[in-house]
Amino acid sequence: MITKKQVQVLNFIKAFVTKNGYAPSLEEIKKKFKLASVSTAHYYISKLQDAGFLNKEHNQPRAVSTVKTKQTVEIPILGAIAAGMPIEAIEIPDETVTITRDEIGKSGKHYALRVQGSSMIEEGIFDGDIVVIRKQDVAENGQTVVAVIDDNEATLKKLYRENGRFRLQPANPTLFSIYRDEVEVRGVVVKIIRSFESQLDRGQSRDEKYVRKIDYSWDYRGEKTKAHTHGIHTYPAMFIPQVGRRLLETYSKEGDTICDIFCGSGSSLVESRLLGRNAYGIDLNPLAIFLAKAKTTPINPQKLTKEYFALLERFENIKDSEIQRPDFKNLDFWFKDAVIVKLAKLKKAIIEIKDETIQNFLMIALSETVRYSSNTKTGEFKLVRIKGEKLEKHNPNVLTIFRKNAEKNIAGMTDFYKDAKKDSWTKIIYSDSSKDSGIKANSIDCIITSPPYGDSRTTVAYGQFSRLSSQWIDVFDDPNDASGVDNDLLGGRAAKNLAHMLSSNYLSESLDKIAKVDEARARDVLSFNIGLNDCLKQSYRMLKSGKYFCLVVGNRLVKQVRIPTDFIIAELAEKIGFTCEDIIVRNIPGKRMPIKNSPTNIVGALEETMNKESIVVLRKN
Ligand SMILES: C[S@@+](CC[C@H](N)C(=O)[O-])C[C@H]1O[C@@H](n2cnc3c(N)ncnc32)[C@H](O)[C@@H]1O
Repeated sequence: MITKKQVQVLNFIKAFVTKNGYAPSLEEIKKKFKLASVSTAHYYISKLQDAGFLNKEHNQPRAVSTVKTKQTVEIPILGAIAAGMPIEAIEIPDETVTITRDEIGKSGKHYALRVQGSSMIEEGIFDGDIVVIRKQDVAENGQTVVAVIDDNEATLKKLYRENGRFRLQPANPTLFSIYRDEVEVRGVVVKIIRSFESQLDRGQSRDEKYVRKIDYSWDYRGEKTKAHTHGIHTYPAMFIPQVGRRLLETYSKEGDTICDIFCGSGSSLVESRLLGRNAYGIDLNPLAIFLAKAKTTPINPQKLTKEYFALLERFENIKDSEIQRPDFKNLDFWFKDAVIVKLAKLKKAIIEIKDETIQNFLMIALSETVRYSSNTKTGEFKLVRIKGEKLEKHNPNVLTIFRKNAEKNIAGMTDFYKDAKKDSWTKIIYSDSSKDSGIKANSIDCIITSPPYGDSRTTVAYGQFSRLSSQWIDVFDDPNDASGVDNDLLGGRAAKNLAHMLSSNYLSESLDKIAKVDEARARDVLSFNIGLNDCLKQSYRMLKSGKYFCLVVGNRLVKQVRIPTDFIIAELAEKIGFTCEDIIVRNIPGKRMPIKNSPTNIVGALEETMNKESIVVLRKN
């Protein structure tokens, strides 16, 4: 099922292939249709691939080389339909959508409607989408139907029959159901076509220069995010692999060298390896470095499994007198004695593994076991101790937790080992990305990253999250140094005063507003942005000309002031020598982030933090 514009793109590709013998590149498609960015060209290609008009040939620079011919049908768009309050159907003459026969089946008559309103968002139907309807006057319970009520008012809802009447159920928790004794069904939804270009979010934009483009196709709601080695360890604010993959496929090609300047646990590096890109990852949190290395180093699963069973056997034979308790502050506050003994036995059994990569990989399962068996609340990123009766009853089975993690991780590594491209490499560097990390100037083909949110008091404290694990698995020479990590990260130390040389009006406005309420917090925000600006400069240095730098960022709230980090980055980057090509907004369905925080530190004063994020696409001039 494709739109008119997609048909035009398809026709262009076919004509190009006939003339040149090969397919046009994304750049050529962008130029031909005067698209805002190559990501839009990529979007069209993926839609044509999903609809079966183009073959999927991943990782080819001209990835659309084979065109299939399929039987297509044109479906008339008859009008608009409300996915909110019922409206009278509005006729839109002469508009059609083209879809392949396979998508709707051989039988039945079909028509299409453009959706208005947001009452079906939980069914994945959004304002501006086109729905294809199979004509029929009956429907099964729970089907999404075009229903006409009260003579001539049409609406799109899920239909249920109950207690002798009909319930028209919206798929949006903020809206109420409509009940009627009579409902006329005009058809059921068989396909949804996502509107892409029409959705712009002008909130906070001072002029037309930067505009956020809302694009639900980046949400990946309900998709599996723990495949390969992605699920081996929790880490705050991880990339959804699909987002990393799509950025890599759009802005780089096989054989390229990419860099993630805030690589965290290494999600983008895993995807790079799977897609045949060489990759550098940089981070300043030692636990992140450890995780990223383990996630991106392929290990033969047979050898791994053998070592795993041997370690379980060793564990059983270690006597309590043989273990060494770790030596860090507050050990007994965070762990019960029985837990310490079991963890120490597991650690001893792991350290005896001679192969360092296998030892490190199994240490990851121990690190996760530390989190789950400690006296901390596991749903939190900060260290919060379980209290009272709950703490008394807390009796975690350390070995069971470890085994569950290790076995899940071995399964992930088995897939990664099979799918990782053998001739590409990954290098992880422990460094501060606002300084020279040693990566050569003009050597990187693409930078993909998600920066920290800046203020650990209301968002994410990476160091605090990592502390107990880091102390157990020896990523620091002195485990007590683990408490200092957050101070060294971007924005970790407040600026001395509010004087600055950064060229961003959006930043200056935000700082003024925050400083009126809380000067210290404004200095935190400034410090973060000074560091971020230095990271942008370093990225400019490393990147080749004409290449892309994608940042996935959250616009956080400080003292009730929403800071437009995406626009600030665009302004700062353009001063350095980038062009901002795109700002795409996506929902965060499953990111491991605090959904609510207390911006005023008043109990109960909850404010949504990060349920949306922006993807800022920069290009080095
Ligand atoms: C949003 S997280 C990245 C998560 C990552 N995308 C993943 O999937 O795991 C941001 C990371 O930036 C790191 N970081 C903060 N300041 C840094 C700096 N100055 N230099 C390098 N890394 C830094 C933090 O340690 C954290 O791991």
